[in-house]
Amino acid sequence: IQNEEKSLDDEVQQLEQTLPKEEGWTSGSEKSLYLYQGFWCLARDLKSVISLQKHFQAFDSDVFVATSPKCGTTWLKALTFSTLCRTQYARDEHPLLNSTPHQLVRFLEFDVYLNNPFPDLENICVYKPRIFATHIPYASLPTSIKDSKCKIVYICRNPMDMLISLWNFMGKLRDQIQDPPMSLDEAFDKFYRGIYLSGPFYEHVLGYWKASQENPDKTLFLKYEDLKEDISCQLKKLAMFLGVPFTEDEEKQGVVEEIAKICSFRELKEVQVNKKGLSRFGTPHKDFFRKGQVGDWSNYLTPSMVERLEKLIHEKLDGSGLTF
Ligand code: A3P
Repeated sequence: IQNEEKSLDDEVQQLEQTLPKEEGWTSGSEKSLYLYQGFWCLARDLKSVISLQKHFQAFDSDVFVATSPKCGTTWLKALTFSTLCRTQYARDEHPLLNSTPHQLVRFLEFDVYLNNPFPDLENICVYKPRIFATHIPYASLPTSIKDSKCKIVYICRNPMDMLISLWNFMGKLRDQIQDPPMSLDEAFDKFYRGIYLSGPFYEHVLGYWKASQENPDKTLFLKYEDLKEDISCQLKKLAMFLGVPFTEDEEKQGVVEEIAKICSFRELKEVQVNKKGLSRFGTPHKDFFRKGQVGDWSNYLTPSMVERLEKLIHEKLDGSGLTF
């Protein structure tokens, strides 16, 4: 283990000297971003990304919640957990009342493998099947995730809403460590150039989009906006995809609506455990709940920003069959 750690440290040190590097979003742990395998990664996370790429062994029964930051990760973690594990606890003792979605579905690279190249994966998930989360793009997922029969659920969001969510979120982090505010112009420029954790956006989205088109039984591609519009319908789709469709009895008993309610922005935001404390990766739990709306970008972006982003969306996505 020590040899492995040493060789990982050497590899990361080498990478830090050779990979393209850009200024990150704060002066703290987000200070520098490195372009590793085509996506931007924090120095802190390079080591965990590499060790899980090397060592992580997926089970056929595993489920992965894959997202770009600020696209609905917290929501999809809650929904996936509540759908998959719904028979493992009493209906009035839902684990989301005592644990945050990020504690129930842990990030591989920012949590499970953070400072630990050989985590005890046997005992890491209390509920079964194992559910993990990641922001790693499809192409860079550990081979065993791509090659096994495990399932991947992905959620994306209108990139303009994502940018505003990201800017607000990073603004709070900056505040916390007493960095001066970052202007929206600067945030726009970074986002436009794809420079944020796991960016660029379009490459991330297209990787999972193509995977879902090629093998729809393995990867489910969801959109934040569709979930906002009709959560029951999307939940049923999710349950079907995960191989645990809601039974007629469950539907009659209102199980779908119950899951939708407990995972809703309004309810989750008010749960005590989501109101205080820090996540394992150092972010206040409450910062994962801001407005939870579609179209908030219109309150922030200037017409010229909108025009530039719309042009980029067309350039990147035209011909893919994916629209926002
Ligand atoms: P806003 O900043 O637009 O409000 P992530 O979980 O990937 O970090 O994404 C965070 C975004 O999802 C934030 O968006 C947050 O408010 C929103 N969000 C968190 N929980 C949600 C829920 N249960 N339902 C809908 N949106 C939610």
